[in-house]
Amino acid sequence: MKRILVTGGTGYIGSHTVVELIRAGYEAVIADNLSNSEISVLEGIEKITGVKPAFECIDLCDPSALDHLLTRHGGIVAAIHFAAYKAVGESVSQPLKYYRNNLTSLINLLEWMSRHSILHLVFSSSCTVYGQPEKLPVTEQAPVLPATSPYGNTKQICEAIIRDTAAASESIKSIALRYFNPIGAHASALIGELPVGIPNNLVPFITQTAIGIREQLSVFGNDYNTPDGSCIRDYIHVVDLAKAHVAAVERLIGGKNKKNFEVFNLGTGRGVSVLELIRTFEKISGVKLNYKIAGRREGDTEQVWADTSFANRELGWKAQSTLEETLLSAWKWEQYCRTTGNRK
Ligand code: UFG
Repeated sequence: MKRILVTGGTGYIGSHTVVELIRAGYEAVIADNLSNSEISVLEGIEKITGVKPAFECIDLCDPSALDHLLTRHGGIVAAIHFAAYKAVGESVSQPLKYYRNNLTSLINLLEWMSRHSILHLVFSSSCTVYGQPEKLPVTEQAPVLPATSPYGNTKQICEAIIRDTAAASESIKSIALRYFNPIGAHASALIGELPVGIPNNLVPFITQTAIGIREQLSVFGNDYNTPDGSCIRDYIHVVDLAKAHVAAVERLIGGKNKKNFEVFNLGTGRGVSVLELIRTFEKISGVKLNYKIAGRREGDTEQVWADTSFANRELGWKAQSTLEETLLSAWKWEQYCRTTGNRK
């Protein structure tokens, strides 16, 4: 059985990816310092798959801990690197925390992968690198614009570090996956997103408002240059996103990659406005959402959605879930969290 290292494997996207790796016949070894996730996620993974993955509570900024992990779990053939801080606002107020953690952990990982002859890396990147693209849908050829937050800058710098490393070494091969807006949860409702405190992201805020934890949702702006005035994003089901990671690993270890460093957009190819998403949520949940139109949120991109044709063709992968199915999974997860008290 092929063994894959998953850093950040107890996190939101990481845990769903571990499930899909196991389902595809891989053995996952999770490295996570639990800074933004719960150990109970391992039980959720086990209930879904029947397998409890190996877990090491380590900080990737500590190179000796990483070395020990790779020695203890020999024979790893690829790494998927999720572990990173990801709160845009916090990165503005604490930039060094973000630069230190996100860059140091990647550099350590690349160095120790190479020393342990692990030659394949899938990296968790973001459509934030495109800013507000001139042409929509956005392709992988669109220019990378100056980042609007230290968080976004760490994604750009990490991509550059990997690109340079892959160019310098004949052996390291890597794929960066640029996520659009991941939402939803596993259909079993046994794993999902566990936002800390007041959610920044739209869908957790919607489900928490619908269940009564938050009083009212604010729609940040209805005066944008879009059909209904609210911002447009490409919302992708986290399980579809997770499956793309398996496809990326298979491309690398099967030697099907065409360059040492490749980049793919992961979205659905469909842009959905905030107001449209609210209406769809109300339809699938039967809950009337208490929301108001508020001012624009600073730094928001007006509209972005993915051209997914490159990922569809080259990875042999396509997002399958409808927006309705995706929102229903998020709603089921919120209800499960209420009944189990499962919250951060
Ligand atoms: N929104 C609201 N009300 C809220 C929360 C969000 O109206 O309470 C709106 C936002 O203004 C935006 C849309 O919902 O138009 C989506 O906002 P999210 O915060 O869910 O997602 P973003 O697109 O802003 O952010 C995502 C990731 C970031 C990443 C960024 C790149 O969460 O990690 O995309 O564009 F950096």
